[in-house]
Amino acid sequence: MARLAERFGTPLYVYSRAALLGRLQRLRTAFGAAAHICYAVKANSNLSLLAAVHAAGAGFDLVSGGELRRLQAAGVPTAGSVFAGVAKEAWEIEAAVRAGILFFNVESERELPLLAAAGAAAGQRVRVALRLNPDVDAGTHAYISTGKKENKFGIALDRAGAVVEAIARERSLQLVGYHVHLGSQLRQVDPYVAALQRVTAFADGAAVRREGVTHYDLGGGFGIGYGTGDALDVDAVAQALLPTLRERGWTPVVEPGRYLVGDAGILVTTVLGEKHQGATEFVLVDAAMNDLMRPALYQAVHAIVPVGPAAPTERTVDVVGPVCETGDFLARGRSLPQCRTGDLLAVLAAGAYGASMASNYNSRRRPAEVLVSGATASLVRRRESFEQLFANEVDLHETFHP
Ligand code: LLP
Repeated sequence: MARLAERFGTPLYVYSRAALLGRLQRLRTAFGAAAHICYAVKANSNLSLLAAVHAAGAGFDLVSGGELRRLQAAGVPTAGSVFAGVAKEAWEIEAAVRAGILFFNVESERELPLLAAAGAAAGQRVRVALRLNPDVDAGTHAYISTGKKENKFGIALDRAGAVVEAIARERSLQLVGYHVHLGSQLRQVDPYVAALQRVTAFADGAAVRREGVTHYDLGGGFGIGYGTGDALDVDAVAQALLPTLRERGWTPVVEPGRYLVGDAGILVTTVLGEKHQGATEFVLVDAAMNDLMRPALYQAVHAIVPVGPAAPTERTVDVVGPVCETGDFLARGRSLPQCRTGDLLAVLAAGAYGASMASNYNSRRRPAEVLVSGATASLVRRRESFEQLFANEVDLHETFHP
């Protein structure tokens, strides 16, 4: 790790292909070969990771036209992808219809005319799954809970019957399944079971709700340990759901993001120094909230370990970055071995929602990313240059007098 940091600089994201593929295999074992795994691109949309996921036989869960463009830029087929999103735009729908995907996850009535028009223009019936909002509590952070009726996602069960009928009336649309996504970082099996029960009860309400239905997309959200608890028991989820799905002839679709890439990545950062203030010992590092936003945004806890030999004595510190906000911390009140300027620290389980949520706040360049495959480490994203930071603000020759 120290050699990677020396070569590519810090802050640096480092990913392990073996860890990613290992997780994919665990899901295959749990859900069976017939299940369709769609990696949630938003968790980490690096083109090289997308290529690795495709090479291992998985499809993708998309939520924007930009993510579709990433698949195309990575040179991977879109046919095995599903497309969710609470406010899809016409151009995104048209682009995905043209590219050809497995199905759209429809989140409201307003999408139906857009989907039908795109289908008619392309001379094809558009396959849709209805994203139901089963009003199930996922027991996760409020910002990443999506399956409660007060959330903006999906269609409430009491309105979904009318939407199914509207789809059935539309010649350019074909209902192929149901979708739920309850939230992210779930650690309990029960919400998945409760959601399927509500969906089957809904489907049993009328024949038209079952006709042509071949897929059940149970969403993602599979939680990982983060060093502070158990990961979700994916075998238990599969065992609880598969008998019902088999009985109905519904192919399972899963949309894991974090579960595949979270533990496969770390963020390596350099210690810049220390500062004592009040009762707190601050360790100042070169990674900040713009590089890894999760602690600031969700009070998320990521384990941090020294890279290389650690001093025998530990003390309680706040690990903070250079950004001008008190919310800029990677860890608070954490016991860490004594470290010196120049030492490297690794923030663990940073592969998901780290690089993909990074920003340029404080005019900081987003980190470089490296993918380790066996004994080879490849640079899969260069560190941004300062020129890139302001490229869109110079040489502007357009004026407008409204
Ligand atoms: N499917 C849909 C429709 C989603 O909205 C999401 C995540 C996933 C699948 C994948 O969820 P996962 O398996 O990764 O939990 N930035 C937050 C997480 C936001 C998740 C948004 N949707 C975080 O850093 O915790």
